[in-house]
Amino acid sequence: MAMRIVRSITSMRALAERWRRTRARVGLVPTMGALHAGHLALVAAARRASDRVVVSVFVNPSQFGPREDFARYPRTPAADARLLRRAGVDALFLPAVAAMDPPGGATVVEVGGSLTRGLCAPFRPGHFRGVATVVARLFAIIRPHAAWFGRKDAQQAAVLGRMARDLHFGIAVHTVPTVREPDGLARSSRNRALLPAQRAAAPVLHEALALAAAAVRGGARTRGAVLGPARRRLARVPGLRVQYLDLVDAATLAPASRPAGRLLLAAAIHLGRTRLIDNRAVRAPR
Ligand code: PAF
Repeated sequence: MAMRIVRSITSMRALAERWRRTRARVGLVPTMGALHAGHLALVAAARRASDRVVVSVFVNPSQFGPREDFARYPRTPAADARLLRRAGVDALFLPAVAAMDPPGGATVVEVGGSLTRGLCAPFRPGHFRGVATVVARLFAIIRPHAAWFGRKDAQQAAVLGRMARDLHFGIAVHTVPTVREPDGLARSSRNRALLPAQRAAAPVLHEALALAAAAVRGGARTRGAVLGPARRRLARVPGLRVQYLDLVDAATLAPASRPAGRLLLAAAIHLGRTRLIDNRAVRAPR
């Protein structure tokens, strides 16, 4: 069946409602467009588990800070539609900002607790509120059975899983492994903003996290022993600024005072004006 392009919230709600009435399982992949292989892995996972797949493309102003890259965020609508058609998506939902976020709106969704205390949260005030609010709106409009998010944004996925459970949406939140370039760089819409020298340096983020993971697996006993070698690896790259490099509990995302149990290593760096994040799950040896 041809992919439908739906711009109005009313039409999207009606279409999803019709599908649900035929007992179709509806899957949702929320995105901000500029689609790449990472998004296509989410679509493929949704496709396998759903009768109907909706992909939303909405560059959500409320999750960008005042000094962040909202205006610069890549927008590639024709290429996105082509990729999604080829991936067998049933509906591409393209709501307008004025409709999603009408003037006078006064409701936000804020996930509190340890999930939004560390990692990206202190550096991007309001970011997770913007993400949770827009995804709650998408959930309310489409009411999918399940939604898929990438593990590259591990904190986002944890926040949205918590939100879906806390608000009793009855929507399963699934995550999909990070898709990487052959040199290890995690696929991201922001990679296309890297200058050639920055692109050449960018895999160091993945390498540093791999070093830290090896230290955990090798039995390192302190945070310093885990993060030190990774920090030194990043410090060797001219023009690279580390925003954070952390070792946290995989479930709560609270800083791990020492390596124990299921852990997440996560980092954010700047290469020029481009901010990149990545993470790696690791289990400490008993
Ligand atoms: O991961 C993203 O692209 C966005 O944060 C999301 C989940 C689509 C919400 O705007």
